[in-house]
Amino acid sequence: MSDYALISLAPKRPGNFPQGVPDSAGIPHSVREEMLVAPFNDIETVASLIREHRDELAGIIIEPFQRLIPPAPGFLQALRKITAEHGIPLIFDEVVNRVSFRLWRRAGILRRHPDLCTLGKVIGGGFPLAAIAGRADMMAISTRASSATRASSCRSARFPANPVAAVAGLATLDILKRPGPTSGSYATGRELKGALSEDAEARRAPGASHR
Ligand SMILES: Cc1ncc(COP(=O)(O)O)c(C=O)c1O
Repeated sequence: MSDYALISLAPKRPGNFPQGVPDSAGIPHSVREEMLVAPFNDIETVASLIREHRDELAGIIIEPFQRLIPPAPGFLQALRKITAEHGIPLIFDEVVNRVSFRLWRRAGILRRHPDLCTLGKVIGGGFPLAAIAGRADMMAISTRASSATRASSCRSARFPANPVAAVAGLATLDILKRPGPTSGSYATGRELKGALSEDAEARRAPGASHR
């Protein structure tokens, strides 16, 4: 979490795009001024914002699969195309959905990579682990020593490169690469959802219609 990430994170009602809404107390007004917020899956609005602000955009960050909301067909491809045309870095927040995203790439739904992506949760196999991955030239900005002439960005952490979490994460990815676990967990999820919905319907409880 950061002040920037908390602009329009989960607004109570749709914002007045592209103006963001701070989702926490304590965020300086100046942060809101630095951010533009665009509606998910609306490529027309996104493209017109990009065209209007292309000289000021440091990057575009998006969670490509928003929990229950999948990207509309063609949305990510169009976003990738227009950001590449304007030389604007595209960043995917894949903290939650890295695995499903890999599957789309394999299925040819999205052929090009983002320029940077953030990873977390499943990659640690239950241990705390997070990562940033991306284009070599962009990653180099945070690995080279700062100098008066070359830009560098600070990267710092309390427990960097924790070997136990890394080993747990690699073991988890090995398991996920085998056929079975993903479809097995979908099947278990569907079964659980069905049973919970039936129970909720029988009790006329809220959530009964969320099949
Ligand atoms: C989509 C998304 N991005 C980023 C984060 C932040 O992850 P963390 O709190 O591990 O930094 C979360 C947290 O749940 C998330 O859901």
